[in-house]
Amino acid sequence: MLLQTTAVLFFIASSNAHSWVEQLSVIAPNGTFTGTPGYARGNYLRTAVGFSDTTMTYLIPPNTQANTTVIYPTTKMCKDTQQDQTQTSGSPRLEASAGDAIALRYQENGHVTLPWNQPGKPPNRGTVYVYGTTEPKVGETLLDVHGVWNWDGTGGDGRGVLLSEQSFDDGRCYQINTGNISEARQEKYPHQANQLMGADLWCQQDVQLPNTAPSGKLYTLYWVWDWPTLPDIDPTYPDGKKEVYTTCMDIDVVGKSTSRVQETDSYVEDQSLDSAAIPSEFNDLTNEDAVTVADSSSTASAVVNENTGSASTLKSTTQTAQTTQIIQTTQSTQSTVSANAATVTVTVGAVTAWRTVTKVEIQKHTVTINSCQSTAGGSVD
Ligand SMILES: *[C@@H]1O[C@H](CO)[C@@H](O)[C@H](O)[C@H]1NC(C)=O
Ligand SMILES: *[C@@H]1O[C@H](CO)[C@@H](O)[C@H](O)[C@H]1NC(C)=O
Ligand SMILES: *[C@@H]1O[C@H](CO)[C@@H](O)[C@H](O)[C@H]1NC(C)=O
Repeated sequence: MLLQTTAVLFFIASSNAHSWVEQLSVIAPNGTFTGTPGYARGNYLRTAVGFSDTTMTYLIPPNTQANTTVIYPTTKMCKDTQQDQTQTSGSPRLEASAGDAIALRYQENGHVTLPWNQPGKPPNRGTVYVYGTTEPKVGETLLDVHGVWNWDGTGGDGRGVLLSEQSFDDGRCYQINTGNISEARQEKYPHQANQLMGADLWCQQDVQLPNTAPSGKLYTLYWVWDWPTLPDIDPTYPDGKKEVYTTCMDIDVVGKSTSRVQETDSYVEDQSLDSAAIPSEFNDLTNEDAVTVADSSSTASAVVNENTGSASTLKSTTQTAQTTQIIQTTQSTQSTVSANAATVTVTVGAVTAWRTVTKVEIQKHTVTINSCQSTAGGSVD
């Protein structure tokens, strides 16, 4: 009982804090968190002796930097306590399988529900990005990754990918306060105070571990909250300022790919908000936007044998196709060609998985390489 009271007081006292990823959870196909939660590198639980916000927040540029309109190329991605792939006692790594959906949860601390406290901030409360890599570096810099690594892994030095990008405000989360936003959300998204979140409802970013994440290894996630102040609004910052927070974390990849992406529409409605994915974010992972595993009859396998040059022509029977990312192949040679109005990435090799960035049907691709023609068909739905 005493512990509970202390914890609740603590949540109130921390209302000016900034944010970090407090907990990671695997999401079952029905949208419910499952298994043992995981934590960031070097995590400091809120209940730990000596905890304060500064044990977990990592502000870029740092308070000590005079010119806050610039982020220097030497600025590190990870807080000094999160440089190494090590966990603290009581805060284990998340265990997950390739292809699993994972929820990253963070507190909004008033940045969502009391937006007038910080003039000049973006209406979406900033943007949160998750980057993934199997090859993290001690001393990784923010600018080598953020805004550089892209969805198909061709950005920068190519060591990693962008896995997720969304608004900091997930549309539900709130801290308890008497502002109109918090009060409206308390009504719409009721939550019984519990030991973990107190009375607040944490924010969430749902991401999918790549199907290609190798089992038995660590997979690293970099969470980046980009929350700039725009110029000419706050008189204190006439030129605006940069403000970024990060959390660095690793996942123990175990077992085999569960191919959970094939299970769509299994989200259970009206389940407790305390341990459930955000439906819109989760559906993005499971529907058209998700990885589609091709069946063997729809791969461009005839091309593999040739593998002697880049695709010279490509025809798509679907005019509306815009971008197709081929993310899993038996060969790595890729080339991008334009066909009709569509740009499609063609992989010279057997395509075993792809995803569409836009919601379209890919009905049939015909690829011609050095006069050898092959057809990759199948629908994405
Ligand atoms: C979802 O599935 C998990 C794991 O199978 C189960 O523990 C949980 O109770 C289910 N959730 C709901 C709301 O049915
Ligand atoms: C801050 O750095 C930016 C970019 O280098 C520069 O344009 C600006 O003049 C600097 N501001 C001050 C106050 O030094
Ligand atoms: C909260 O109040 C502000 C300012 O009056 C208003 O613009 C906004 O629409 C309100 N939001 C909600 C959720 O009531």
